[in-house]
Amino acid sequence: MKGIILAGGKGTRLYPLTKITNKHLLPVGKEPMIFNPIRQLTSAGITDVLIVTSREHMGEIVNLLGSGKDFGCNFTFKVQDEPKGIADALLLGENFAGSDSVVVILGDNIATHSIKPYVDHFIAQKQGAKVLLKQVSEPHAFGIASLDEKKIIKIQEKPNKPESNYAVIGIYMYHNGVFDVIKNITVSSRGELEITSVNNVYIERQELTYDILAGQWTDAGTLESYRLANEMLFNIDNRIIDGEM
Ligand code: G1P
Repeated sequence: MKGIILAGGKGTRLYPLTKITNKHLLPVGKEPMIFNPIRQLTSAGITDVLIVTSREHMGEIVNLLGSGKDFGCNFTFKVQDEPKGIADALLLGENFAGSDSVVVILGDNIATHSIKPYVDHFIAQKQGAKVLLKQVSEPHAFGIASLDEKKIIKIQEKPNKPESNYAVIGIYMYHNGVFDVIKNITVSSRGELEITSVNNVYIERQELTYDILAGQWTDAGTLESYRLANEMLFNIDNRIIDGEM
């Protein structure tokens, strides 16, 4: 199992904080934002980690993170030339993944509790993909899962009329076939390769499982959520809490 952290994008919703600085380098609690997803991966026993970021911020990211020695892991770095969507950024991880499965974390997704239990469930799942869900108060801002008793029947990206308040958060697990799935999806109306399109392929194949993430979670892409992320991590001294709540 390998880890991929996507830390590109322009972070325009946080301007002017992100005009010069990469969003994932902003402080959250007492550490740079990207430390939380890194610690999430290492807490799940993942020690090979690819970081994807934009050309303009790669130097700073490498300077900050180094080899991975300080985190007990090994970093690989890859440039995404243009922000063309989450699935496009993930495709850059194909050679890095080799024949392994991957846990993908969007670098602005902040969580208090370790993802280890869900990664362990996924390791026991022999094929397909797993997503993590969390109930949110603003479902139109996320990928939203429609659920029946047992499974996800559809995911809609930022729907006008959300069918539930279960957001598909930015922590995804895929067996190795994900790169072929990405190569066969089409660009969305906003010109991006959407991770939601990828996950919907797994729903069609009946190969998508989910767990509900324990503890607190937020993305940190808007001023309000960035503020919440700070509060969450200050409260726990930027530690990752073990196990399910
Ligand atoms: C992305 C995904 C969305 C997901 C969210 C979680 O949205 O497209 O499905 O719910 O991350 O943070 P973004 O906020 O990058 O537009």
